[in-house]
Amino acid sequence: MSEINPKIRVEELTKLLNEHNHRYYVLNEPEISDFDFDALLRELENLEKSHPELADKNSPTQRVGGDITKNFESVAHDYPMLSLNNTYSNEELHDFAERTIKTLEREPEYICELKYDGVAIAIVYENGRLVRAVTRGDGSVGEDVTANVRTIRTIPLELTGDYPEKFEIRGEIVFPHEAFNALNASREKLGEPKFANPRNTASGTIKMQDSSIVAGRGLDCFLYSVLGVDFESHYEGIQAARRWGFKVPSEELRYITRVNSIDGVEKFIQYWNKEREQLPFETDGIVVKVNGTANQKLLGSTSKFPRWAVAYKFKAERVATVLERVTYQVGRTGAITPVANLVPVQLGGTMVKRASLHNSDQIDKLDVREGDTVFVEKGGEIIPKIVGVDKSSRSEDTKKLVYADRCPECGETLVRKEGEAQHYCLNESGCPPQIKGKIQHFIGRKMMNIDGLGAETVEQLFEAKLLNNIADLYDLKAEYLLPLERMAEKSVNNILAGIEASKTVPFPQVLYAIGIRYVGETVAKKLAQHFGSVKNLLEADLETLVNVDEIGQKIAESVKDYFEIPENIDLINRLIKAGLKLELNKEELENRSNKLEGLTFVVSGVFSSMSRDEIKNAVETNGGKVTSSISKKTSYLIRGENMGPSKLEKAEKLEIALISEEEFVAMLE
Ligand code: IVH
Repeated sequence: MSEINPKIRVEELTKLLNEHNHRYYVLNEPEISDFDFDALLRELENLEKSHPELADKNSPTQRVGGDITKNFESVAHDYPMLSLNNTYSNEELHDFAERTIKTLEREPEYICELKYDGVAIAIVYENGRLVRAVTRGDGSVGEDVTANVRTIRTIPLELTGDYPEKFEIRGEIVFPHEAFNALNASREKLGEPKFANPRNTASGTIKMQDSSIVAGRGLDCFLYSVLGVDFESHYEGIQAARRWGFKVPSEELRYITRVNSIDGVEKFIQYWNKEREQLPFETDGIVVKVNGTANQKLLGSTSKFPRWAVAYKFKAERVATVLERVTYQVGRTGAITPVANLVPVQLGGTMVKRASLHNSDQIDKLDVREGDTVFVEKGGEIIPKIVGVDKSSRSEDTKKLVYADRCPECGETLVRKEGEAQHYCLNESGCPPQIKGKIQHFIGRKMMNIDGLGAETVEQLFEAKLLNNIADLYDLKAEYLLPLERMAEKSVNNILAGIEASKTVPFPQVLYAIGIRYVGETVAKKLAQHFGSVKNLLEADLETLVNVDEIGQKIAESVKDYFEIPENIDLINRLIKAGLKLELNKEELENRSNKLEGLTFVVSGVFSSMSRDEIKNAVETNGGKVTSSISKKTSYLIRGENMGPSKLEKAEKLEIALISEEEFVAMLE
């Protein structure tokens, strides 16, 4: 018997597995058993293991993930990712129709679709193969999340039929209810906090570094437009995508429909307004699109959204319930948020027990009292809000609410500074949620990025009295950690290695991590560049601070206040002693200049000798300012490849100077 040629067998298996995957996930018509599918997959896995040269990024074996992405690369979109204009009433919908008819001089055909509530994604295919998947980002540049998108089973890795050589397809990645509930159930079992809603969890999941976790979460994707191919209509594009193997909205289930008048649109809205609760995923409205491509061109787009489409948003659901008690939550910075504890009610698919009351002004405005019947709404936000009080049902013995005057966690007197909405507990180093919150902020990914430590471990170490501030992290030793519950040698080593690695984090990031109020990422960079070291910064007086470009009174005062507290100075000294970078190194100092002072840059597109982040950094280390959108204040637009056309148009309109990467480098010399 002749031997099977491994290359041919890999190709055969790939084709077979892709077909069965499509049948199972897209068509819902499996032809073979899970067992048989797994056997084929195993065979392919084994072949790829013994012939690594035959392994392929788009192999069906990659669906389980495994690739780790450290930093998601920025990618410029070939076509800007616009948003949709929102309407909230029939009246506004009719306004849209009227404008459309006026331009087109007749009523066009419309396509109605559901508005999937998830995260937008742009996927590029070349020669029938998925090559790149990019998030929306700021609309012109997004993040490359290809490894994660490859794990979504309804997204084909290889296409079938009459696909064009190159095109882009866009859609929405959603977290179906069933998968979301399963995820939360398993988190609950593990004692981990539950996720608040499917949309934010989809968005967090698609940006996870470990694609094998993404693979296990059960994300889905609905595709809603094809770009880079000439179709006569939107509908034709969707039909073509179906032939190429994509999961597109079902006509049978009325996820998409064609109508020839705005009355038809209204019927679609009425139907889904009632039925949307039954859908296996979240929608927040419907999308109406003018179907014909020629008509779409006539209508055109603004810089933000197309004039040929509009979203109709369902009204936020509102329910009445009783407010039992107002309690107060203390944040990392000591900010106090009043919380309404409610008699639990079902709202938008979840049980609501609490709602934010924001601040004391809001309480006064609503005149809300304990015992009142209140109206709760869920908008786009995760936390529901109280929008009103049913005063007609108020009982006579309710009393006007007296706002807390002491911190519920540590008993310190609360203060409210002039001009601020929030009350604060100023007991930074003695108030448990502030201590834990500061440590959690410090170890975050964009700060000290300490792997191995999470909120739960911080809580545990705080309870064990091993962590009382950020400097304590650097005194942790294996012998202190090992006796604690759930601390195996491996996790202890992980924690300690993460802490050790954090000593190489550059000064601006360390300054951000320390958690001085109002000193976010950008301000920290600015201060670090300007002062060069924490020593210089803490010696600066208020005037010097205010005189730094972009540093206002509020930030300056906050920095000053921070360094006036002896405990903070002690903390900084301990961090220096532990070996953290609290000054710029020689190279960073030498790279600094004021050459670009007073100039504002927008950086757009993809560059060859430096990354976008490196260019932005170079602007900032040389005293310049980076903004994300073009305005009259922009001095230069540094233009890379594949820059979004809308940015270019805007720059030309405002007569902003365009420079290349090389010209920018020359400016620094
Ligand atoms: S079409 C030019 N169709 O809604 C904009 N978008 O609020 C074309 N979305 O960014 C978008 N479902 O992420 C379109 N059926 C649908 C959609 C949809 C959800 C999202 C999309 C867009 C956002 C705008």
